[in-house]
Amino acid sequence: MFKLWCTLCTSTLFLLFNFAISSLAIVPTTPPLPILPLPAFSQLKWQQREIIMFCHFGVNTFSDSEWGTGKENPAIFNPVGLDANQWVNTAVEAGISLMILTAKHHDGFCLWPSKYTDHSVKRSPWKNGKGDVVQEFVNAAKARGVDVGIYLSPWDRHDKRYGDDLQYNEYYLAQLQELLNNYGSVREIWFDGAKGSNAPNMSYYFSDWFYMVKELQSSINIFSDAGPDVRWVGNEKGFAGSTCWSTVNRTSLSIGNASIENLLNTGDPRGTDWVPPECDVSIRPGWFWHKSESPKKLSQLLEIYYNSVGRNCLLLLNVPPNTTGLISDTDVHRLKEFRSAIDTIFSTNLAEKGIVKASSQRGGKVGGFGPENVLDSDHIWTYWAPRDVDVKDPWIEIRGTSEMLRFNVVRIQEAIGLGQRIKRHEIYVDGKMVANGTTVGYKRLHRLDEGIVHGQVVRIRIRESKGLPLISSIGLHLDPFWHPNEQ
Ligand SMILES: *[C@@H]1O[C@H](CO)[C@@H](O)[C@H](O)[C@H]1NC(C)=O
Ligand SMILES: *[C@@H]1O[C@H](CO)[C@@H](O)[C@H](O)[C@H]1NC(C)=O
Ligand SMILES: *[C@@H]1O[C@H](CO)[C@@H](O)[C@H](O)[C@H]1NC(C)=O
Ligand SMILES: *[C@@H]1O[C@H](CO)[C@@H](O)[C@H](O)[C@H]1NC(C)=O
Ligand SMILES: *[C@@H]1O[C@H](CO)[C@@H](O)[C@H](O)[C@H]1NC(C)=O
Repeated sequence: MFKLWCTLCTSTLFLLFNFAISSLAIVPTTPPLPILPLPAFSQLKWQQREIIMFCHFGVNTFSDSEWGTGKENPAIFNPVGLDANQWVNTAVEAGISLMILTAKHHDGFCLWPSKYTDHSVKRSPWKNGKGDVVQEFVNAAKARGVDVGIYLSPWDRHDKRYGDDLQYNEYYLAQLQELLNNYGSVREIWFDGAKGSNAPNMSYYFSDWFYMVKELQSSINIFSDAGPDVRWVGNEKGFAGSTCWSTVNRTSLSIGNASIENLLNTGDPRGTDWVPPECDVSIRPGWFWHKSESPKKLSQLLEIYYNSVGRNCLLLLNVPPNTTGLISDTDVHRLKEFRSAIDTIFSTNLAEKGIVKASSQRGGKVGGFGPENVLDSDHIWTYWAPRDVDVKDPWIEIRGTSEMLRFNVVRIQEAIGLGQRIKRHEIYVDGKMVANGTTVGYKRLHRLDEGIVHGQVVRIRIRESKGLPLISSIGLHLDPFWHPNEQ
């Protein structure tokens, strides 16, 4: 009996001892639940690229037009100095990691020697008909670690099969298989609904196309007016809506439908699908190179940057090669200026000099979700989260001196890996509101209307959100190119 009692007693003591040890050990707080829908892995990777490049190139480059007729003689295509390495180097110097090439535009001329048509580089004098622009583009990109995207125009003004639903869809699918089977990894494919008003009636078999694309390429994002992975932003100016949700209902979208342009621009806070927008715009007035045109001014490019990347969007900037087959010096120069301006503005975060505080925080000091997380550089999966009960008016603030906190740009980023949440926010400097807005998303930039401000406390108040706001990064920046009174 005594022995049994002793065994019980020691095992109880042992259990008590273990319990004491484990309550001393720090058990990290778990992350909060996500709010659906969430980005897929490839969409999250895409979003972090911020700027990607479009290259419009083809017979239009040589005929000085934007929409070819389809009757162009392939003999006009002769870019004697073509060097895709120069295109890729231009992109790399601008910090761009994905480039999309127009493998075929509306004129139907193919930049690769397609088996299924003669209307291609095969019949051009360039490299005696032995050239392949798609291959040269892919090789050059691979050599510099840049990812590749393809545009294959649905509308085709050359091919006789266009207008016959079955024949043309078979042709289109055959070309998709050529492009997605033979040129390695493709990260984005672009479908649009552009079409002249007199074009023959044609139903595109989008479901067949999309299934085929996903079958042939595992990490690709499909862009179209209707997604499924990336949606059009609804205009070609490079401007997202000042309210911009990555969420929308795919069932509300259709391709080539002008009545949904507003919805594309702003998204839908109740949307059940993650389909973030892409802002396509050209560095020049046209999409193709024209001798008479020149690139936009730096201030215009920055305006586009703030209204696209700064509004939870991706900027797809078109930089067209010229008739020599090279990107013009003027454009190369402007892109360098653009990158250098972005680096000048954002490489210094004045908030890092201050002390960060918040209305509350999830978890304890160690391994928790404290406000200091908004100042680390690895920003997507480390974030500030308020306590579960702090739903009324959560805030986060930076304290410093007036000399330290002198800025004209505020950057806020949400931890979108757990869903896009913020619906309305306000920014105060020493109690005075200097900016406010609706959505934040991956990145929201506020260029202050009143120019440079300074103060000791910069507070961001989250006035409305879906569940708790999760903020991954905050920046206070000085943009020397921003002169609001001169705009
Ligand atoms: C396309 O179809 C519509 C209605 O079915 C018709 O009114 C129109 O004339 C057709 N257009 C062409 C170019 O065939
Ligand atoms: C265009 O979009 C609207 C709004 O979603 C929809 O009602 C209409 O059916 C669409 N039209 C076409 C041709 O898909
Ligand atoms: C999107 O779908 C959700 C859920 O079904 C619905 O509540 C919302 O109203 C839809 N949005 C639009 C614009 O139809
Ligand atoms: C195309 O750009 C290259 C590089 O800037 C330049 O050397 C060449 O002259 C340009 N070609 C034309 C036709 O402007
Ligand atoms: C921003 O503040 C102004 C002035 O108080 C107000 O009229 C506007 O509705 C606010 N906008 C948002 C999105 O909160």
